[in-house]
This record gives sequence, C-alpha cells and structure tokens, in this order.
Amino acid sequence: MSVLSLAAAHAAGKGKESDAVFTVLKEANAAIATLGREKVVNASIGSILDEEEKFVVLPSVDEYFRRLPAVELMNYAPIAGLPEFLEAAIADTFQGNQPPNTYARAVSTPGGTGAVRNTFNNYLEKGQKALIPDWFWGNYRTIAEEHQLGIETYEMFDKEYNFTLNSVKEKTLALLRTQNNLVIVFNTPAHNPTGHSMTKEEWADILGFLKDCAGDESKRIVILVDMAYIDYSGDLKKTRSFMQLFGNLPDNILVTFAYSMSKAYTMYGQRSGALVGLSGSVKIAEEFSEINTFSCRGVWSNGTRGPQRLLADVYKNAELKARIDTERAAYSELMKKRADIFLKEAREVGLKTLPYNTGFFITVPAPEPRAVTQKLVLDNIYALHLKKGVRFAICATPTHKIPGLATKTKEALG
Ligand SMILES: Cc1ncc(COP(=O)(O)O)c(C=O)c1O
Repeated sequence: MSVLSLAAAHAAGKGKESDAVFTVLKEANAAIATLGREKVVNASIGSILDEEEKFVVLPSVDEYFRRLPAVELMNYAPIAGLPEFLEAAIADTFQGNQPPNTYARAVSTPGGTGAVRNTFNNYLEKGQKALIPDWFWGNYRTIAEEHQLGIETYEMFDKEYNFTLNSVKEKTLALLRTQNNLVIVFNTPAHNPTGHSMTKEEWADILGFLKDCAGDESKRIVILVDMAYIDYSGDLKKTRSFMQLFGNLPDNILVTFAYSMSKAYTMYGQRSGALVGLSGSVKIAEEFSEINTFSCRGVWSNGTRGPQRLLADVYKNAELKARIDTERAAYSELMKKRADIFLKEAREVGLKTLPYNTGFFITVPAPEPRAVTQKLVLDNIYALHLKKGVRFAICATPTHKIPGLATKTKEALG
C-alpha cells in the first residue's frame, strides 16, 4: 500500500509554493556569506534595517518592554484582549479621527494577519471572494484559501500607472451580482508593495459609491482598511483624517481596521495587533465584538499579553508615547531619504515606478519580473519579483547602497 496523502480534500496541495520573500532572503544571505555584506544589496525583507543593516527596534519600546514584570509577559490575557489594550488600540487606530455618532470596538489579534483573517472569515460566506488590489500582500490570498474563500482583484492603476477607482467600482458591482456579502481591502496609506496612499478625496469618492451600493439592504459591505504601515506615513493625526469620512454610513456598511503593532512598535515577532470595527449601529458593533471574540477563542485563544500591556501603558503615559513617536518619525525620515534617492535617479534614467508616497517599498512595473531580478542578481542585488513588477524594500537597504539601483534596474529591464 502506498498512501501519498492523508490531507482532507480542502487541505490537499496546500503549502507547495515556497514563500517568495524568504526564498530571496535565503539567496541574499548565501551571497552575503560568500562575498561579504558590503558587496550585496539585500532589498528583499520588509522590516526596517538601519544604516549598518541591523534590525531596528525603537529604543523606548525595547526599554519599556524589557522592564515589564514577568506576570505581564507570561500570564494569559483575556480572550478579546486586556480592556485597557482595546481602548488603546482604538485610540491608536483613530488618533482623534473617529467620526461622531459611531461605535468602535476591538478584539486583540496576532498582528494585522489575525485581523484580516477574522474579517475574511466572519464577513464572507464559504466560497465567496474577497475583493483585494491587484498589487497585493501575498498573505491575503493565503488567508482566503486557508478559509475556503476566494479572491478577486481590482486594478489599482490605469495604463499610465495613475491610481484609479474605476476598477474597484466595476468589480464591486460585478461581485455584488453574485454574492450578498462583500469584503473590500484597501491597504493604505503606504501600500505594500507600491508605497501608494489614497487621498481623502478618493476615499470620499469610493464611500459615496459604496453608500449607493448599500441602498440594496440585502447587501452586506465590509471595508477592510489594512493600516499596517500608517505610522510611517507622516503626521499621525493627519494621515488618519480620511477616517473622519466613516461617519453616517448605512448600517449595512461596516468598516474594519487591521491594526498592527509589528511595524509601528517594531514588535513584529511578538504577534500583536487588533481588529477594530466601526459602525453607526450599536447592534452591529456588539455583534462585531461577539463574533470576533468567539473567533479568537476558536483559532488562537488569547493574544500575547506583553505587547498589550505595553500599548495600554503607552496610552497612559504621554511622555513615553511622545518618545516612541519621535523615535519612529526618525525612521520614517530615513526611509524618505532612501526613497528620494531612488526616485530621483529613476526619473533621471527614465525608469517608471508605481506611484510612491511613503512607506517601506518601491515597486517597478515589469513585463517579466523574474528575468529582471535574475539580471539584478548578477550585480548582487536581491529584490522581490512579483507578478507584474519588482519590489525594492528600501526599509532594509542602507542609504549608501541606493545610488545605482534605479540605473541597474533600468538596464535589467532592457
Ligand atoms: C500589507 C500588510 N498587511 C498586513 C501585514 C501584517 O503584518 P502583521 O501580521 O505582522 O501585523 C503586513 C506585514 O507584512 C503587510 O505587509
């Protein structure tokens, strides 16, 4: 007897594709081991590295976290999260921009990943599709597949690579013809992988459109704002001003936010974040709490207590919060400096990039991305090939290694 698989039908075949980022990272590390760090540009990884390519931890976060008593690090947190953490996560999400007459609720999740997971799972029926951008964080697809859901993509840019809402509107109408539940993902500001940020006017436009769609009360529309990179996008309050537009929405539109402490507090591996829900209806907000708390219990039980305690305490200590915000802002500036160099050179050599405002990544559209990254490897440059382009993690590339990258990419494109 030769049994080749015991997996259930829905699980069979999962996990065959290796994670693209980690594959490139492995290759880059192998090159570093033979050639030395200085000879290699590793623009693959999505965490901030300093000018010596060391992993960045915000010093005040590090210091405070290490001084937490053992019980705050080791003990369980309540299933939904420490109540003070939930209040702090809501405050950190809106930073003063929650619209009047709305109800916000939160549950703790293991990072933004858990927040995306709960939204997909709880607001779509099995087999339905989540609507996500065509340039997207690959994990959206994985999370959808893991929960026997599908994805549909909308085009973020027109043929000249200008941002457009036309496609998301068309795809919304098309999906609403075949399914009553709709989850639409907007990863903004500082979208991964392009660094694009939607304007407040664009938000007003899409919300007006979605309100019209919600005129049909059989439709249930969930807007998922993936804000993983928001704190590196400029003034904390101003970059969230679009959230003020989420007032006066009909009860069949719910806004959810994937709130993450990974980048904002450099606590990636601590796996902390929250799913925040916002509704004009207290009933919908209460339902949000109930179903998502149940999901927490049924999937990961409770979140890690340490980061929750840290965030709760940060929100009770204005001086500590100010220090963390200042330390983080310095890294936003550093990434801006790196991006400016890349983009200026790209303009000079006529290399097209996708619209970049802020953030960890710059992406160059390419008809054959794999061929481009393979050519770049000949110059010891490691970037990530996507389906329609090449992503450069400027968050991880020290400033002195940026000059020349755009020129080499232009050459590799042929
Ligand atoms: C677009 C996007 N959303 C969400 C996340 C979630 O990260 P985490 O689960 O660590 O909060 C990431 C992380 O890379 C991301 O790039």
